[in-house]
Amino acid sequence: MMDVHYSRKDLLSIRELSKEEIRHILELAKSLREINERSIKKVPTLRGKTVVSIFYEPSTRTKMSFEIAAKRLSADTYSIAPSTSSTVKGESFMDTVKNLEAMRPDIFIIRHSQSGLPARVAAETPVSVINAGDGQHEHPSQALLDLLTVLDRTNQLEGLHVLIVGDILHSRVARSNIWAFTTMGAEVTLCAPPTLMPYGLRDGSLPHVRVCHSLDAAIPEADVLIVLRLQRERQKATFLPSFREYALLYGINAKRLEKAKDNLLILHPGPINRGVEISPDVADGPHSLILDQVTNGVAVRMAILYILGQRGGGYATAQVPP
Ligand code: CP
Repeated sequence: MMDVHYSRKDLLSIRELSKEEIRHILELAKSLREINERSIKKVPTLRGKTVVSIFYEPSTRTKMSFEIAAKRLSADTYSIAPSTSSTVKGESFMDTVKNLEAMRPDIFIIRHSQSGLPARVAAETPVSVINAGDGQHEHPSQALLDLLTVLDRTNQLEGLHVLIVGDILHSRVARSNIWAFTTMGAEVTLCAPPTLMPYGLRDGSLPHVRVCHSLDAAIPEADVLIVLRLQRERQKATFLPSFREYALLYGINAKRLEKAKDNLLILHPGPINRGVEISPDVADGPHSLILDQVTNGVAVRMAILYILGQRGGGYATAQVPP
């Protein structure tokens, strides 16, 4: 295995990572993914390490792929959800975390609707913390697996035109991908109805990021199209006249792709709303890398766990001499 060039205790956001740190995680993921193709998919790297998943929002991909990744590296894995934790009896989230910390785990993986909560936990515990998606802030492991999925097809990220379309306002995936792709040298265009674009974001607000509201004008120059899920659960205010109108103006379908490059790569973090932000024929069609993203998610999460697990962190190691 290669030397570790990522010396942070935690993985909290892409924004704080350097190009070299991102590249290191991606290279490690590439070298680890061959384990996932073996008949016996297990190596002893994290034997004796304890990984605790704390998911306070629903998840299929992130939760399962972190769990699979940890088990393939031989870590012991445990998970807790709000319905089965003592938060239902009134315990605060931080008290729950402190009690889990007292059981001497090495890594916490946290998903929560509160932006910034994983960072707060990280500041208050010696346990390594992985942000598995916090509110509208960031979803760093998703952006890393998106980078790897694109790299597999293009071999380079510099100069690529990446178009992110959909509910930018609520999307932690968009935020992480803006930092991820621009740090790696790509140009990013954000496309959304005005009501789903963060207030005040204009051309030039962020380096290498453009803003547009016409999807049909933006599609022809895109090399990569990242389609965001329309977050029904976060549409409490009237951001949209109707899902039907959204699909008409911003939905990705075969007709709309007639003006796209032949080798356009289409990504979606999932879960997908078929017929709303993406039509079934496109989701399952030749441009779509949606399931490649899921496959790469395991390798990327193995790399993240490998790096944080190898740093010898965790409460026990911090307190007890070897
Ligand atoms: N992409 C993503 O975060 O999916 P899940 O919500 O299923 O984890």
